[in-house]
Amino acid sequence: MDSIQIHGGVALQGKVRIQGSKNAALPILAGTLLTKETSYIRNCPKIADVYGMINLLKSLGCHVSWEESGIRVNAKDICRGEMQGEAITGMRSSLCLLGALLGRCGEVVMEYPGGCVIGERPIDLHLSALSKMGVVFTEEQGRIRANARKLCGAHIKLSVASVGATENILLAAVMAQGETLIEGAAREPEVVALCYFLRCCGAVIEGIGSSRLHITGNRLLHGADFMVPSDRIVAGTYLFAAVATGGNVLLEAAPYTQMEAVLNVAEKMGAQCIAASEGLYVQAGERPMAVSQLRTAPYPGFPTDLQSMALAVLTTSEGQCRIEETIFENRFRVVEPLREMGADIQVCDAHRVIVKGVEKLHGAAMEAKELRGGAALVLAGLMAEGESIITDCKYIYRGYENICKDLRELGARIVSV
Ligand code: UD1
Repeated sequence: MDSIQIHGGVALQGKVRIQGSKNAALPILAGTLLTKETSYIRNCPKIADVYGMINLLKSLGCHVSWEESGIRVNAKDICRGEMQGEAITGMRSSLCLLGALLGRCGEVVMEYPGGCVIGERPIDLHLSALSKMGVVFTEEQGRIRANARKLCGAHIKLSVASVGATENILLAAVMAQGETLIEGAAREPEVVALCYFLRCCGAVIEGIGSSRLHITGNRLLHGADFMVPSDRIVAGTYLFAAVATGGNVLLEAAPYTQMEAVLNVAEKMGAQCIAASEGLYVQAGERPMAVSQLRTAPYPGFPTDLQSMALAVLTTSEGQCRIEETIFENRFRVVEPLREMGADIQVCDAHRVIVKGVEKLHGAAMEAKELRGGAALVLAGLMAEGESIITDCKYIYRGYENICKDLRELGARIVSV
């Protein structure tokens, strides 16, 4: 079931429920390591990265079970911080186990984390911040060894508001001795969710949601029962799928308060978005209108993870759009397959493209090269005339619990084959 087959041209209609957030669930699951008590994490999406995180937790000695509505984790028996294998090298967010394990065990040996190939994705900010907190890093046969005889609070100024680095520092700081101040912290909703989870466990964190986080460390944390928020990127993907096809949908449980920049773009494209207690109603125009400029930015700006989907929609818009990707290089790998479908896209450099809307795309055979770019190709397939086949969809399934079933519920002719 590694491929997706789509017969395009259906305007999406109906309702679909939005899954729990991948990027919130992963660091929260890492956070369950910080206490000897049991935590219950609800609304985790059933996706490969979450299964990978569960395997890592188990390999560290945690007792983990997936029950009806959540994952139960007990980390009372963990004694060593050694991690290796595919779950580390294939998943960027395995990196947040570094901060959590340093907090819990004081020593970690791990392989370099992997993840989607969407740029260089260095880890220098993680390492320099943790070094400031007393961690000594050495490299050993291509692996990282981290030692913290005494983890201390520190004043950390992040030069880039890195989501992963902010999460790693938080996870270490709640266990460190003394106070930690993070300036230039990422403000993404997933960082906020981690802060609230840690607070539920008894951590003291002030400034939640701002770029200045203050943590009072060295508390004895306890277990928590916590609900992962809905996935704003999945909601945004289906929102753009509706816009792309001239659809009329209800995205149940969509976290619209976290989606302001996305809703602004969708509205400029001609969609009407109405927030209600049950979710987000989207009524799209027949053909999307172009937005003149689209620029990705850290939250609350337009998310880099939805840039490829917006690009796909714009290929058939009325007009021209200049897209600037400010977070990652390599986010334009979808340009080539979209061109094969008839799109008119000019690549200016690694960070900028100009999209000129064409009347229609036609179906094609394509390969998903990464998670969000792969989802963008699904959108292009929904818009195109005729049949599209997307191969190597394992990347897409890393972030979407059931993209084919969800879109079928909205009337799309899409199957995994
Ligand atoms: C997280 C998300 C990813 C999202 C990204 C930006 C997870 C699992 N992934 O990735 O989906 O696209 O935030 O919203 O939550 N950087 C450095 N040095 C570092 C770390 C980062 O230079 O040590 C740079 C990166 O190259 C990038 C920028 O900082 O240009 C932002 O990256 P970051 O926020 O760290 O992304 P991730 O946490 O990897």
